[in-house]
Amino acid sequence: MQLLRHITSINDLTVDEIEGIFSLAQSFLRRIGDKKTPYRIARSLNDLPGSILAGLFYEPSTRTRLSFESAILRLGGKAIGSADPRTSSASKGESLADTVRVTSSYADILVVRHPRDGAAKLAARYAPVPVINGGDGSHEHPTQTLCDLFTLKRKKKSLQDLNVAVSGDLKASRTIHSFVYALARFNANIVLKPAPGMELPEDVAWRLESEFGRKRVQDNRTRETWYVPSDRLPRRQSIDAVYVTRFQSERWPNEAREYPIVNAEFLRKKEFKTTAVMHPLPRVNELDLAFDSDKRAAYFEQAAYGVPIRMAILSALLSHRGNKKLKRFPGGFADGAAAIYDAHPASGLTCVNANCIVRDAVDGPYAQAKFLLAVCKPPRLRCFYCETDIVTFWIADPGTRTVFSNDHTPCGWSGPQNRELRFYASAERAAQSGFPRRTIADGTGPPARRRAPRHS
Ligand code: NCD
Repeated sequence: MQLLRHITSINDLTVDEIEGIFSLAQSFLRRIGDKKTPYRIARSLNDLPGSILAGLFYEPSTRTRLSFESAILRLGGKAIGSADPRTSSASKGESLADTVRVTSSYADILVVRHPRDGAAKLAARYAPVPVINGGDGSHEHPTQTLCDLFTLKRKKKSLQDLNVAVSGDLKASRTIHSFVYALARFNANIVLKPAPGMELPEDVAWRLESEFGRKRVQDNRTRETWYVPSDRLPRRQSIDAVYVTRFQSERWPNEAREYPIVNAEFLRKKEFKTTAVMHPLPRVNELDLAFDSDKRAAYFEQAAYGVPIRMAILSALLSHRGNKKLKRFPGGFADGAAAIYDAHPASGLTCVNANCIVRDAVDGPYAQAKFLLAVCKPPRLRCFYCETDIVTFWIADPGTRTVFSNDHTPCGWSGPQNRELRFYASAERAAQSGFPRRTIADGTGPPARRRAPRHS
């Protein structure tokens, strides 16, 4: 299997590619020896002799960093990088973009972990070598999801039609965001059990419904939200897996919140009889340690699969020879509307997410506001980096020199790929740039253009 790709989101991979990674991981597990069986020293292989992985970790990490290092070493390659960001030039004020450009010539592949949402996509923009997102802010953690799905698949044989509950801090947990996208794409039923005030971000929920075709069903009795395929009703008899996350204290300004604890008592009900209990770890106190000896506990196995899964990822990304340019798979768009727009500073349009990399004092100037027209009807602009959506903005058409509020779809008359469109934060900003405001009486869209749109 060969992938010429950055992996910044789980949606950078197709379902078939994910299955391909699982088959590869399975074969690596066989070749190195499954550590789950009685203790033995795993074998090292020589599939990627001399390949170098650089770990750029701007946030603490144990599993992700060490399992990537273990994976490259087991494949016959080498790992460089520091576990402590204070020892890198970031502490002298160096930007992520510069660090990435430099380290790309020291290593064949980069793993980036960063506190800002969208940092991995920024790194990917500047890196000529593949970038793997090792967790960026509360955005995503795609390789953790591959470990999670692989564990689930090994336990339950298939992911189709499984009931998977996710519990805890659904808002700030990046592992949850990648995981629910993948569950939806693999046709599992998702049950949300958020801690109070820590519900799934609106944009993630919107994508589950609009891009991945899930129907949202609210259970008023249990206060759960289910996401199921639109032709299906929740099947409540059993929960196949519960995925627990810790309170992401580093991403919340005010600590001390009410938080669900998963323990034998929580799992006493009949519906949890054969549930696999999963956790990306580290746990704090949301998962009772007395539960570790229960045969439903799957979290240490999940962490152990970090090595074969990451061996599979590295081998897929590094098996190329020759001079090739990396591609990015623009996955997950509802209607194929994925035109990319650079926002001119005069447009006043910046990402609305305060933790986005574009809002960083050092990295922001390297990022520049950049949006995808994620959906046409009604138009929705998605930050290229952190994937937060903007739904209120103004659209200017240089062809007719007019500006319209975004309840008029731009797609009908100019096509989703028309990069001539400009987007403004307000009608005033657009007027300052020479686009007079017009009122559309019949609500069908702007008048016919004089010039034919240029498609790219
Ligand atoms: C997670 C992370 O960093 O997002 N850890 C991991 O990589 N296994 C989960 C967490 O920190 O809660």
